[in-house]
Amino acid sequence: MPEARHLTLLEVDAASAARLREEFAGRTEAVVHGGGTHMPFADGRFDSVVCFTMLHHVPTPAAQDRLFAEAHRVLRPGGVFAGCDALSSVRFRLIHIGDTCVPVPPATLGERLRAAGFAKAEVTVGEGRVRFRAE
Ligand SMILES: C[S@@+](CC[C@H](N)C(=O)[O-])C[C@H]1O[C@@H](n2cnc3c(N)ncnc32)[C@H](O)[C@@H]1O
Repeated sequence: MPEARHLTLLEVDAASAARLREEFAGRTEAVVHGGGTHMPFADGRFDSVVCFTMLHHVPTPAAQDRLFAEAHRVLRPGGVFAGCDALSSVRFRLIHIGDTCVPVPPATLGERLRAAGFAKAEVTVGEGRVRFRAE
């Protein structure tokens, strides 16, 4: 995959966004404090949207679906939405005791991405993770 020429980071936690601003100073276009379910970006602004190991932190399936629809809205036509997350397991749930943990079931992820507006969605499972690519 080619390296991105411009990168915008979206982070819902204010302290984490401040840390990322320091860590990525000069290496990203912007670190934006905001949530994936209401992205503070114009329609069609991005070529691609990616999210890694964060969907399970979005507290309900309905909110996750809203995030998928937002990813579709901010992508240019033909843009790609891709990412991965951990599969549900006893160990994963144990390490999230007291924290939000709503793993995304792989069996229904493809249809949820299509319902959010993506024409194509590929979902694969392996090594304890679900990976997806939608466009
Ligand atoms: C487990 S960390 C993963 C961070 C990074 N993607 C990685 O793979 O190392 C999940 C991150 O997603 C952020 N997050 C959770 N819900 C979010 C949302 N609705 N919108 C944007 N960021 C969110 C959390 O604050 C946290 O920084």
